Amino acid sequence: MMEELEVIDPQEQFQEFFKTEKYRQRISQMAVTGKTSLTVEFEALLAFDRELAEEIPESPEEYLKHANNAAYAQLQIEDPEYADKIERVTVRVVRLLEAALLRKLGSAHIGKLVMIEGIVVRSTPVRPMVMQAAFRCKRCGTTTYVKQTGPFLRAPFVCSDPSCRRKGPFDFIQEESTFIDSQELRVQERPEDLPPGQLPRALNVKLLESEIVDVARPGDHVSVVGIVRAVAPTLPRVGKLRAFNLHLDTNSIEVLGKEPETALPSPEEEEKILELAKDPWVHRKIINSIAPSIYGYNHIKEAITYLLFGGVPKPLPDITIRGEMNVLLIGDPGTAKSQLLQYVARIAPRGLYTSGRGTTAAGLTAAVLRERHGGMTLEAGALVLADKGIACIDEMDKMRPEDRVAIHEAMEQHTVSVAKGGIVATLNARTAILAAANPALGRYEPHRTVAENISLPVTILSRFDLIFVLRDVPEKEADRKMSEHILEIHRKGVSPVEPPIPMELLRKYVSYAKGIKPVLTDEALKRLRDFYLAMRSASETEGSPIAITARQLESLVRTAEARARAALRKEILAEDAEAAVAIMNRSLEEVGIDVSSSKIDIDIIMTGKPKSLRDKLQTVLSTIMEMEKETGMVEKIALLDELDAKYKISPVEADRLIGQLLREGTIYSPREGYLKKT
Ligand SMILES: Nc1ncnc2c1ncn2[C@@H]1O[C@H](COP(=O)(O)OP(=O)(O)OP(=O)(O)O)[C@@H](O)[C@H]1O
Ligand SMILES: [Mg+2]
Ligand SMILES: [Zn+2]
Repeated sequence: MMEELEVIDPQEQFQEFFKTEKYRQRISQMAVTGKTSLTVEFEALLAFDRELAEEIPESPEEYLKHANNAAYAQLQIEDPEYADKIERVTVRVVRLLEAALLRKLGSAHIGKLVMIEGIVVRSTPVRPMVMQAAFRCKRCGTTTYVKQTGPFLRAPFVCSDPSCRRKGPFDFIQEESTFIDSQELRVQERPEDLPPGQLPRALNVKLLESEIVDVARPGDHVSVVGIVRAVAPTLPRVGKLRAFNLHLDTNSIEVLGKEPETALPSPEEEEKILELAKDPWVHRKIINSIAPSIYGYNHIKEAITYLLFGGVPKPLPDITIRGEMNVLLIGDPGTAKSQLLQYVARIAPRGLYTSGRGTTAAGLTAAVLRERHGGMTLEAGALVLADKGIACIDEMDKMRPEDRVAIHEAMEQHTVSVAKGGIVATLNARTAILAAANPALGRYEPHRTVAENISLPVTILSRFDLIFVLRDVPEKEADRKMSEHILEIHRKGVSPVEPPIPMELLRKYVSYAKGIKPVLTDEALKRLRDFYLAMRSASETEGSPIAITARQLESLVRTAEARARAALRKEILAEDAEAAVAIMNRSLEEVGIDVSSSKIDIDIIMTGKPKSLRDKLQTVLSTIMEMEKETGMVEKIALLDELDAKYKISPVEADRLIGQLLREGTIYSPREGYLKKT
């Protein structure tokens, strides 16, 4: 007696699944949205029929075809009219149980359906791709249709007319061919998934059909489900290579929320976090936990603390005010700038360390690149990849000329706009920046202005909320303590200072705090307003060196917000405002003392010169122009005399001013000892 075998038809099983309430509804809605695809949550299918679901990743080609057919059959029941119109349905599976690690993809995965999560670093524009090409025979005029698969357009082998059968030549007939939208993305491992010290890996992802192209832009975090393919690269005249390249043929793509991993803290961790927040010395503790192996720099570590927590962005109906802070460290060689940056990149929830040149062709902002086969791709730079995180930019003064232009927009508006090679896009770059740069003259010259000391334009400098100078000056007591500290590290191989808060807890604490949106109390607001108005009015009375601008006021608010967040407070108290004012003062002092009047003067940052200096430069220039009228060019000795006699500018100072005008190119020296305005 033979046992009756139940023949299982996968298509019928799928259709059973599509008859469940949720999917029936989705299918009957397809006509309304005009879609031809049906999204299926893998987990739902798994719950419905485990065995069937598990076949999909294993034999995706076959099982997705069954699923498509089943969905179409069900559509014929739900909405026969629409079914007739669209002719087929594509099932798109989303949210597999587990994401495959990009760096682990290999030959074992070829032909399998996997899900990868990563960040889009590159995208091509959407291009029509021919699926079925029509060719007209030049001899007999018959049209032959050829299904297209590979990367190159294939003509028919012979004419399809039985009485012709000749090998062409053929004309490609565009109007009779069928096209489908296509796009290629490059998806890279997220910075947070990267093993320490490793370069990120990336995978090409191919998208076909209008419903999945143009869904994601560079900088977006995506989850892609697709079939792993291996294709041999072809070398011209040589043939195909034996080592294949992997790519993904996309079945579905979803743009993920852009918030960095907010892995909820465990109850014990949350308890620790809340307890820490209650500590009256919480700020001090956090500051002391920042890079404890680096000696000193307490004010810089304080600024880094505020940078980590960040202020609250204000998306107003008309404009958006950034919440993220930008901090710049200008410093002599060997003053631990790179070390600080690398530390921050490690601890920040979405930290990224890069040099000014960037690690890719896209540099800091973005670039339009020409591909090997002639097409254009848009590639995201560091600031776009660090969207919603912190970009630590070392050697910022050495950034690419294109970035120098584009970074203005990135730093204030938090977007990167690109319009080149047919690609027009605006990418998000809501990134806090911690930047480092070396002085232009090798060492920081305290008698020169910040702008003179660094080869960055003042328009970029003024976009930093806080700027600090790290100078390497021999100083007995400090040198002794620091050398002890460093030698201790080398002797023991461990930090002599244990951080009060372990790094792992601090990172969780920062993530946790980011959820808080503190608001200004009346006292805090009054404190900030008073400081701002006092600085402004000081400028008014004394022949107006402009001490502070609206930009600094916004920086103060951000700093105060960050400080409140660091204590997990929803209210910004007077003490937060005080601390913001204090650190702002410190930063202004470091970069902005008007050497000649000892007044804080934001003009140094904004224009590169203190007001008094600008006045003096103007005086020198007008004197030169005055004297030129008489002599054509001006003898330097005569100029020095004139300036001393008329304006009490000493020859030493005048010499320096002249030097600066020469460097700026406002004047030049037509002949040794003579000067002339350009
Ligand atoms: N204050 C400090 N405490 C501990 N170590 C320090 C300190 N200052 C410098 N060092 C040590 O000096 C070395 C050089 O530091 P780093 O490479 O970060 O300097 P840098 O400021 O980036 O210099 P450059 O401008 O040349 O790039 C590092 O090993 C660092 O640990
Ligand atoms: Mg360095
Ligand atoms: Zn023919």
